[in-house]
Amino acid sequence: MGKDVLILAIESSCDETAAAVVKNGREVLSNTIYSQIDLHTLYGGVVPEIASRKHIEKINQVIKTSLKDAGVTIDDIDAIGVTYGPGLVGALLVGVAEAKAIAYATGKPLVGVHHIEGHIAANYVEHKELEPPYLCLVVSGGHTHLVKVNGYAEYEIIGRTHDDAAGEAFDKVARAIGLGYPGGPKVDKVSKTGRKDVLAFPRAHIEGCPYDFSFSGLKSAVLNYLNSCKMKQTAGHVEEEPKQGKTVYETVFSGNDMIDEEQGVTVADVAASFQEAVVDALVSKTMAAAKDFGYTKIAMAGGVASNSALRAGMKAACEANGYTLYYPSPILCTDNAAMIGCAAYYEYISGTRHGLDLNAVPNLKLGERA
Ligand code: KG4
Ligand code: ZN
Repeated sequence: MGKDVLILAIESSCDETAAAVVKNGREVLSNTIYSQIDLHTLYGGVVPEIASRKHIEKINQVIKTSLKDAGVTIDDIDAIGVTYGPGLVGALLVGVAEAKAIAYATGKPLVGVHHIEGHIAANYVEHKELEPPYLCLVVSGGHTHLVKVNGYAEYEIIGRTHDDAAGEAFDKVARAIGLGYPGGPKVDKVSKTGRKDVLAFPRAHIEGCPYDFSFSGLKSAVLNYLNSCKMKQTAGHVEEEPKQGKTVYETVFSGNDMIDEEQGVTVADVAASFQEAVVDALVSKTMAAAKDFGYTKIAMAGGVASNSALRAGMKAACEANGYTLYYPSPILCTDNAAMIGCAAYYEYISGTRHGLDLNAVPNLKLGERA
């Protein structure tokens, strides 16, 4: 057995300032996350300028904490891993500049990591037996991909969204039904008390692209339904006064609030029916790809992979087909640096090294190298 490899990993691609220490790609010694969610909730979504400024303010402390929590010093670290794309350019730059400064000051190797590669690698932390090849459904706020994971740093995208990402659809629909930001976890929660079969929202089929996704039609169908309910209300002169003392983006509805009094349809019913349409699309396309390409191991990754209905739906489908399903704990599904440390380890042992000219690449493609 060779010497242990310790990676100090940094992630700042969106609204989480995160650092972690990961041993041999699979053991998380620390995972420090400073979430800016409360700050952005005020505006109903991530404000890039605010995200960058907050990353600058927090990053040193987050790194210090992660080293302390891991019980190591910078001298014990073998390499610095950092997300360099895709993401918000200003936010990415903070992590990349920090990682380069540490690499320069310590003389340690620098390993740039693709954010989605990190999400996929999060599966290795809790599933020590998981090894490529497998099929991975990546569902985050910015991406919806079906990926053939052929090796630890070998990816082939076989399905992608033509418009909104799954997480983006969750966030937009949550906002439309008055649940606020961040939408995914809120829709997940209220859906538990809703009826998923009360409204038949569309499932997109894209001719000639059996593994591709589209969520904008579904989002429009939900918005059209909400508008038609609003018009019915206005026609009956039952329009309510806006609730007092709330900003537009604050949560103004709960699951029990009525969307359609006449039909007895609640916010929770709309959320559950929408969520069912998303889950149905994600599960059916993943199963079709697994069958067509002969995969028996299926993994999920990204923020939406923590959705309880998606987990249940994918579990049932995998069991029915005799496939083994893997997904990370919720804290490793949403953005974190432990996943970047896992991916950085596999890049490091395969020889990937970046120079001090490493730059943030906001639209970096999976499998592309800087
Ligand atoms: O992977 P992630 O943390 O960031 C990106 O790389 O985009 O994913 C964030 C996305 C958001 O759109 C959020 O609403 C969604 O993941 N999300 C969920 C759940 N938890 C987070 N969507 C559905 N159900 C959840 N429980
Ligand atoms: Zn992410």
